[in-house]
Amino acid sequence: MNAEASHRAKKMHEANRRCWNAIAGSWAEMRERDGLWRRCPEEPELGFEGGAFELIGSYVGDVEGRKAAVIGSGDNHAAFALAGMKARVTSVDISERQLETASGRANQLGLDIDFIRADATDLAALADRSFDLVCSTNGFFVWIADLRAVYSEVHRILKPGGYYVFYDVHPFQRPWAERPRAIEVDKPYWQTGPFCDEKEGTFEYNWTLGDILNPLAETGFVLRRILERPAGDSSFWEGTSYLPGKNEVLLDWKENPRAALPVWLSAAVQRPD
Ligand SMILES: C[S@@+](CC[C@H](N)C(=O)[O-])C[C@H]1O[C@@H](n2cnc3c(N)ncnc32)[C@H](O)[C@@H]1O
Repeated sequence: MNAEASHRAKKMHEANRRCWNAIAGSWAEMRERDGLWRRCPEEPELGFEGGAFELIGSYVGDVEGRKAAVIGSGDNHAAFALAGMKARVTSVDISERQLETASGRANQLGLDIDFIRADATDLAALADRSFDLVCSTNGFFVWIADLRAVYSEVHRILKPGGYYVFYDVHPFQRPWAERPRAIEVDKPYWQTGPFCDEKEGTFEYNWTLGDILNPLAETGFVLRRILERPAGDSSFWEGTSYLPGKNEVLLDWKENPRAALPVWLSAAVQRPD
C-alpha cells in the first residue's frame, strides 16, 4: 500500500474508532443481555467459534503462563477465555470506550489483563518477538482497510514459532442480502468495499478468501490449518445475541440456503522459527 492509500486507511480507521466510541454504551447494554462475557473465564471454549479453540489447543497447547494478545478485542470473550486459562493477556482495541467496558468487566471477573488502545495496523506499544499467541475473532477483518499492515505487526510481535489464530465470518457469507430463507445476491463476491455507512460514518470491508489469506503468506507466515465451519447454532442467523439460537430450521440449507456455505473461516498460522 502506498503512502496515500495508507493515510486513507488510517483516516477510515479513525472514523470507525469515533463510531465505536459513540456506540460503546448501547453495545455494552446489548452484551449485558446475553451475559456471555461472565462465563468465558470458566468455560473458555465459549470465547471462540469455528474450531478456533481447538486450533489453539492443537498448535499452541497449554497457554498457562504464556503471553497472548487479542487484537480488535471488542467484547473480549477471547481475552477473558485466555485469561481464565491463565495466559498473560494483552487486549488491544482502537476504541477507548470499548476498552473501558472491557476493563470494568475484567475487574468484576477478577482477571488481570493489560488493556492497550491501538489501531491493529500499528502495535508500536507491543515489543518485537514477545507473544506466544495472537488472536483475532468474529467481526474483526471487516474493520481493517489494510490487512497486510495488521499481519506485519502480528508477525513482528510474535516470538519465532508463535501462532496467530483467528476465526471470522467466512467471505462466502458476504454477497447475500440480509434475508434468510432465500438466496438473493446483494453484490458480487469481489466487491469488497469500503462500504461507507453514511449514518454511522463507518467504513467496512468484505474481503475475499484470497484477500485474507494471501497477505499472510506474503508476510512470512506458514499456514498450518484452515477450517471452514457451519454455524454451531442458529443464533448466527438470528441477530446479535450470543444466547444459543432456537430456530433449528435456519440450520437446514434446504430452508435457509446460506447454511449450505461455511459460516466461519478459521486458521492457525505460524511465524517460523
Ligand atoms: C464487532 S467488534 C468485533 C470484535 C471482537 N471479535 C468481538 O467479538 O467483540 C469490533 C471491535 O473492533 C474494534 N476495532 C475496529 N477497528 C479496529 C482497528 N483498526 N484496530 C483495532 N480494533 C479495531 C472496535 O473498536 C470494536 O471493539
